[in-house]
Amino acid sequence: MRNKKSTYSTSDIEQSKKSNSENIADDSADDIVDKEEESLELEKVEEKENTVMDNNTETSLTTLSEQSQINDLTNLEIQDIEGIGPTTAKKLREAGIFSVMDLAVAAVEDLAVDINASKESAASFIMAAQKLLRESDVLEKEFITADTALKKRRSLLRCSTGSSMLDDLFLGGIETQAVTELYGEFGSGKSQICHTMCITAGQPVESGGLNSGIIYIDTEGTFRPERLEQISSSRNVDPVRALQNVAVCKVYNSAHLELIVKNLGKYIDDYKAKLVVVDSIISLHRAEFSGRGTLADRQQRLNSIMHKLLRISEIYNVAIIVTNQVQSAPDTFFGDPTKPTGGNVIGHASTYRVYLRKSGENRIAKMIDSPYHPYSEVRFTINEKGTDNLDEGKKSKKE
Ligand code: GTP
Ligand code: MG
Repeated sequence: MRNKKSTYSTSDIEQSKKSNSENIADDSADDIVDKEEESLELEKVEEKENTVMDNNTETSLTTLSEQSQINDLTNLEIQDIEGIGPTTAKKLREAGIFSVMDLAVAAVEDLAVDINASKESAASFIMAAQKLLRESDVLEKEFITADTALKKRRSLLRCSTGSSMLDDLFLGGIETQAVTELYGEFGSGKSQICHTMCITAGQPVESGGLNSGIIYIDTEGTFRPERLEQISSSRNVDPVRALQNVAVCKVYNSAHLELIVKNLGKYIDDYKAKLVVVDSIISLHRAEFSGRGTLADRQQRLNSIMHKLLRISEIYNVAIIVTNQVQSAPDTFFGDPTKPTGGNVIGHASTYRVYLRKSGENRIAKMIDSPYHPYSEVRFTINEKGTDNLDEGKKSKKE
């Protein structure tokens, strides 16, 4: 099944946002998650998934020109994989796995269920697919020398957020090969950053873009095509071409989101995407799995989605942005009494975690978790251009 670029009806667009009170009602459930998370079965799942992850953490950082090689490889037949015969290949195809790349990013647990095989067999198929990609130089070999690692790292792509001040927080823009989580309260600018990046990502690399298509997975009904039109016009970008670059998928329930993420590799190829937005990652699961008895299931599902996104970002060399809501943390005595929802599952799988908050008319973004960025904060604003730099004149008058 291939995704179609969806067009929004006015009623879709006008669908109202979740009320803040609903978020607060869910907070108690999330508190339970935080406290019980460690004891849940999910750790076992995480461990198993990490075993598979370890095999592809050192993936190659490719340039745009190298991407065509990846696209060729995604067309490799799964029967080319060592140990996979016609019967298994048929089962895999029936489970929606058509290419080596699809298999390489599959999750062990899901695959075992989908093809009715043991987890050991599923894991061995995934590893065989990864081995083939490694042999084809799409995935990095297990060991590379540090100078090669540095060279590869320098070739990763960065996409401008639309505000150079905000880009500074990311040391030059949001990276490919990573999952960046934006969390903050309602109106803090999460969706506005995502909208703005729908325009910036389509721009040439020299202008801070990714010269690519964009996939926007909208779980809250807050995607606004007319806002993209406004942002592109204000930035002197042709709105017609800019909007044609953005493939939007409105997702209605958690199972639908899981299916879209499962097939994301194919959509990335179809739309030549280098940026994938999931706005938001948690709202559907939060709404559907609210009872205490369902929390373990919810966390396992979110964990699986997040790890799949991370693998996809590395293998396809795409930037993935997920947005997350906040809940109040009543046990906080100092500082901001809010924290991201979803327990540790989202935070552990995100490469970068950024907290957004309102400050009068402006917004503040703070790096909360990153392997190498300073934990600094920057200010930016939201205007007709989407996310934008503060007007320095106004800023100094206010401060
Ligand atoms: P939730 O999805 O509700 O959790 O919030 P969010 O963090 O996604 O908020 P969002 O990015 O939608 O930001 C909403 C804010 O952006 C509004 O309160 C406005 O301040 C601003 N904004 C939204 N649309 C426009 C616009 O067309 N023009 C301008 N100037 N500002 C806008
Ligand atoms: Mg939003």
